[in-house]
Amino acid sequence: MTKKIFSIAVFSALSLLPLAAFAQKNSCLDCHSGLEAELKAPAMSFAQDIHQQFGLTCKDCHGGNPAQASEDKAKDKTFKGAPKRTQIPEFCASCHSDAAYMRTFNPRLRVDQFSQYETSKHGQLLKKGDAKVAVCTDCHGVHGIQTAKFPKSATFPWNIPQTCGRCHADADYMKPYGISTDQLTKYKDSVHAHALFEKKDMSAPTCNSCHGNHGAFPPEVKSIGSVCRQCHPSTGELFAKSPHKKAFDDMGQSECEACHGNHKIERPTTAMLGTTDKAVCVQCHDKGSKGYQAAGELKTLLDGFDARIQKEGATLVLAEKKGVEVSEPAYRLQEVNTVLVSAKNLVHGLALDEIRKKLAEGEQTLADVGKASAAALDEAKFRRKGLIIATFFLALFGLALFLKIRSMRKPA
Ligand code: HEC
Ligand code: HEC
Ligand code: HEC
Ligand code: HEC
Ligand code: HEC
Ligand code: HEC
Ligand code: HEC
Ligand code: HEC
Ligand code: HEC
Repeated sequence: MTKKIFSIAVFSALSLLPLAAFAQKNSCLDCHSGLEAELKAPAMSFAQDIHQQFGLTCKDCHGGNPAQASEDKAKDKTFKGAPKRTQIPEFCASCHSDAAYMRTFNPRLRVDQFSQYETSKHGQLLKKGDAKVAVCTDCHGVHGIQTAKFPKSATFPWNIPQTCGRCHADADYMKPYGISTDQLTKYKDSVHAHALFEKKDMSAPTCNSCHGNHGAFPPEVKSIGSVCRQCHPSTGELFAKSPHKKAFDDMGQSECEACHGNHKIERPTTAMLGTTDKAVCVQCHDKGSKGYQAAGELKTLLDGFDARIQKEGATLVLAEKKGVEVSEPAYRLQEVNTVLVSAKNLVHGLALDEIRKKLAEGEQTLADVGKASAAALDEAKFRRKGLIIATFFLALFGLALFLKIRSMRKPA
């Protein structure tokens, strides 16, 4: 109990620390709190700022002397004022690239943001004087900067599509560059956005997972595969061993993007296979080629197996509705489904034999489930017959009873 009180006391003391920092004389904050609009805003939002939480104040970024109450004296020789937009990255980097300084606050924080930024398209264009590209404050804010761990932070995974989309989805703003502005809308329709926003799956990628935080560039053709492989390693391995690997490298074609796209990645189905116009394979494989043949065969194989799973599933549902216990075969049908999922993954290796072998693993179980579901249906039919007979006899018995009672009631 005392331990608990102690820790509460320590915790409260710690949470008062930022207030203690405020309690020190800070004429910048005092005076600016009483000003208007953009001169007041910094003073208002600074209470939520991570820099404030680490004990930094206005003067740490802007210089000046906060012990002086008058504006003239407060803005002495050390006063830096607000940096121009094009100077912001260097302004922030004066601390964030200084490893020795940053270590005194948090030894684990990276100090490569600026050097990474300089390699990005944003950084490269800024160097040429283009002030429209993203600078640090576009993604982080200015006086209310928070860590990416806070759900309200502009850099929290859920908020990133909006943070980037503010420019990248604005056709007018991006017009001079001639690049598409559909990334955000397309991304919103993807399996990835669905997983992140609807399933709240924080392992699903948002813009910076594929583009990097500070080195934002489209991944190069060569590196797209490795971007996807971070999270889909088995698929990547299969692809690397397939004949496509060398063929794609020779063509300068990126690995996963050729078939799945980039921003609007949809849930894959066998419609991607086969030889109709919808199939991705026929984009490159002409009729009569080995690839064309494989595309057709793969679709037939996988669809055929899937249809049988669906059929047994439907029979089991029917039997269950009629009151037959089917949990055991239903469970085994799940196992067969897992086999199908693995077989679909194997598509990336393009080895048809391996896919056939995989599907064969499910054959025995599928046959067993088939028998069990037929038996379940039989049982349901048998029970129905039994029910009809029982109802007939019951009705007969009822009639006999009725006649009997009536005959007893008749006056002698
Ligand atoms: C982490 C560094 C940092 C801290 C701490 C900081 N500022 Fe700033 N401040 C900036 C940057 C960067 C800009 C330029 C923003 C821009 O142009 O988008 C700026 C701009 C301003 C401006 C000009 C706003 C405008 O829109 O014209 C004022 C006023 C200001 N800061 C006051 C303050 C006050 C008061 C404090 C303390 C409560 C403070 N700042 C703390 C970095 C900081
Ligand atoms: C007595 C009031 C007062 C005090 C004290 C004061 N300011 Fe200001 N500040 C102003 C006013 C008024 C303006 C707008 C007019 C101007 O630029 O002088 C301003 C403008 C600014 C700007 C934006 C314009 C620019 O020069 O870039 C920044 C940044 C700023 N102050 C930071 C600070 C900091 C940091 C301190 C403390 C060291 C401070 N102020 C202390 C009143 C004050
Ligand atoms: C006076 C030095 C200084 C300047 C200038 C400065 N920072 Fe910081 N910043 C720090 C310190 C110290 C921390 C706290 C370390 C931590 O968060 O672990 C910090 C933390 C941060 C964090 C949170 C990191 C995390 O996830 O914990 C972000 C984001 C950040 N700063 C962005 C900026 C941006 C953007 C600018 C420029 C507008 C800037 N900083 C300017 C010193 C500075
Ligand atoms: C295009 C948007 C963007 C720009 C521009 C940007 N950042 Fe970041 N920054 C991010 C994102 C997103 C994260 C969060 C990464 C995560 O999920 O942890 C981040 C994280 C950080 C962190 C936390 C430590 C880390 O590296 O993960 C610091 C500090 C930081 N940024 C500082 C800066 C500074 C300084 C600049 C300017 C030189 C800058 N950022 C420019 C998007 C940006
Ligand atoms: C302040 C506006 C702004 C914000 C915010 C912004 N960007 Fe940009 N971005 C630009 C501009 C302008 C370009 C230059 C267009 C070009 O490449 O010619 C650019 C270029 C890029 C490029 C290179 C495109 C190409 O093919 O040349 C990528 C990738 C990129 N941004 C990703 C991002 C990501 C990811 C985020 C969010 C974490 C982000 N941007 C946030 C304005 C912004
Ligand atoms: C699953 C990974 C992934 C995600 C998530 C992602 N991108 Fe991309 N992005 C790519 C790939 C791959 C390219 C194309 C590179 C190529 O073909 O040269 C690309 C290209 C771009 C380009 C260059 C122009 C274009 O359309 O080709 C911009 C700008 C861009 N992305 C911004 C964004 C923004 C903004 C978001 C978030 C809304 C985002 N990206 C989310 C993978 C991704
Ligand atoms: C940061 C991790 C991450 C990155 C990077 C990533 N993905 Fe994903 N991907 C996921 C997650 C998580 C899911 C959602 C799984 C689910 O809920 O079905 C997913 C789902 C998918 C699906 C649908 C899978 C299914 O079973 O229906 C495809 C296809 C896919 N991603 C392709 C790609 C491609 C192509 C790239 C590269 C351009 C990529 N992913 C980059 C994590 C990632
Ligand atoms: C030649 C076209 C092609 C390429 C290249 C390709 N895929 Fe696929 N991918 C498919 C097809 C077709 C399916 C769907 C099979 C089905 O559902 O019947 C699929 C399914 C998937 C799935 C869901 C099923 C599973 O495997 O778990 C993921 C995830 C996936 N691909 C990721 C990737 C990644 C990552 C890459 C790059 C390493 C990649 N794909 C490259 C055609 C391709
Ligand atoms: C971006 C173009 C492209 C796409 C899309 C593509 N392939 Fe290929 N594929 C090639 C190239 C190039 C080769 C190298 C041999 C060749 O020219 O046929 C190849 C080789 C193959 C081979 C080996 C052929 C042999 O000669 O051994 C098979 C099998 C194959 N692809 C099947 C598929 C299937 C199935 C799909 C759809 C899921 C598909 N491919 C999608 C370009 C593509």
